[in-house]
Amino acid sequence: MVEDSQRDALIVAAGEAREQAYAPYSHYRVGAAVLAEDGRIFSGANVENASYGLTLCAERSAVAAAVTAGARRLLAAAVCTENGVAPCGACRQVLSEFAGDMPIWLCDAQGQVRRMGLAALLPERFGPEQLPHNLPEAPSEKTF
Ligand code: THU
Repeated sequence: MVEDSQRDALIVAAGEAREQAYAPYSHYRVGAAVLAEDGRIFSGANVENASYGLTLCAERSAVAAAVTAGARRLLAAAVCTENGVAPCGACRQVLSEFAGDMPIWLCDAQGQVRRMGLAALLPERFGPEQLPHNLPEAPSEKTF
């Protein structure tokens, strides 16, 4: 269960991360934050590159920060963009590696927020349970 205060903190963290976006090519700034099982919040921004294809999305930056700090289970996320849109397909998949059907709050630059569920955004996800030889470290329970 995600508390209202945790949701609010996630949204603030995603908004602050968006301010750090490095997006000189697209000028489309994205900030993301994820809530770990132990209550910690990790954030990330998009990091573009002159070699465009190397661009890192905000959501994946946030997941990398969480995993680097030892988190393995994510309970919720928030993403802030200009127009309040949902994460790209690649980011949905990367989020799902560490999450069940978690809420994702989508925020726009006017402060409007809407809630979506990861399972609705990524039906029939490919997860560790689809692998015949599940790695010991991977999440074992089927959560979707
Ligand atoms: N972007 C993200 O950070 N997350 C997404 O889910 C979609 C796109 C970034 C990548 C690029 O820097 C910019 O938005 C425009 O595609």
